[in-house]
Amino acid sequence: MSLLGSMRRRLEPPQFEEGYDDFDAAASASLGGWAAHPFNSREGDFSPGLIDFEICTALAHIGARSVLDFGGGAGDHYLAAANVLPRPPAWTIVEVPERHAVIDGVTYVEDIPTKTQFDAVITSGALQYVRDPMDTLAAICSVARCGVLITRLPLCEHSDDDFVTVQNAYPGVRIPAWFFSAAKWRKEFLSSPWRIAWEWEGRTDSAKVRGKRFYYSGMLLLPR
Ligand SMILES: C[S@@+](CC[C@H](N)C(=O)[O-])C[C@H]1O[C@@H](n2cnc3c(N)ncnc32)[C@H](O)[C@@H]1O
Repeated sequence: MSLLGSMRRRLEPPQFEEGYDDFDAAASASLGGWAAHPFNSREGDFSPGLIDFEICTALAHIGARSVLDFGGGAGDHYLAAANVLPRPPAWTIVEVPERHAVIDGVTYVEDIPTKTQFDAVITSGALQYVRDPMDTLAAICSVARCGVLITRLPLCEHSDDDFVTVQNAYPGVRIPAWFFSAAKWRKEFLSSPWRIAWEWEGRTDSAKVRGKRFYYSGMLLLPR
């Protein structure tokens, strides 16, 4: 890193601030939120092409004709899928209203439609931002028929418990963000109708939490 780069890094706030007891404490230290940043989700350095590749591979494997995309932003994952899959699936995105767009083939909703079943549910980089990630996980699994793809999931191998931080996500946007204990997360599926059929390590972040690097994980859940 150049001298200028390293000085800038030292002056910037850390990407993840620790020391919050619970989500409410983190929320009270937050500013703005996703609603305050209603832009396209393609910004940042998280390898969106790779994420879309994971999503399209999983959907092709499942043969999904209908998809629920939790936290799907404006619809970039749909655009990728529509570009490569032989028949683009019917696509529903659960998002904050400020991020709803107008894309042919996409339906936007604000809550998980609990009375509808979808061939596949996908969620990329979103579970860590909800107040009750495990409740949300249960809700998305309950509407999935053939498979669930979770990606950009911040997993810590070095922590026995989940913990919440405040993420300095964008200038002027500070949001609560969970980190999940990898061991706890895997245990979650031992007695679930869903099994982790495939798990992979995505990008390792340059930021540290609890003194160590973490990685963004991906996993494909299939029925047991
Ligand atoms: C980091 S972005 C990921 C966007 C996209 N899935 C991707 O991987 O590029 C997190 C997304 O989760 C959405 N989100 C956060 N909380 C949510 C909630 N309670 N319900 C639905 N979407 C939510 C945000 O609005 C945002 O679009």
